[in-house]
Amino acid sequence: LIRGDYAVTSLKNISLLAKDQLSATTISGIMSYISGSKLNMKSVNTMTIKSELLGIGSSLTFSGIGSSISASGIGSTVTAKNGLGVAIELTGHIHPQPNDADGDVQLPTLAPIA
Ligand SMILES: [Fe+2]
Repeated sequence: LIRGDYAVTSLKNISLLAKDQLSATTISGIMSYISGSKLNMKSVNTMTIKSELLGIGSSLTFSGIGSSISASGIGSTVTAKNGLGVAIELTGHIHPQPNDADGDVQLPTLAPIA
């Protein structure tokens, strides 16, 4: 137990390796991971990023010129819930259309393909 601040500094590399689990927790403070170059986060299995604040005001922000989000695996998709709580899949949703000026039923538009 350390009752004050604690810091580890290396003029070269620091590595942590656990055969089983590794966790880092703050009780009330901010957790920061800051890279002077690239930040790579990888998982062999499911990777979850979640705000525990009841989902209220939760946001995930990518800022900077040229920011983008991509899902590159076959079958990858991005899904978000609309204001009614309906999950809308980016590459699988359709757009219903109102009838045209003559009252003819219009088919929904298809999901984007590119
Ligand atoms: Fe759309």
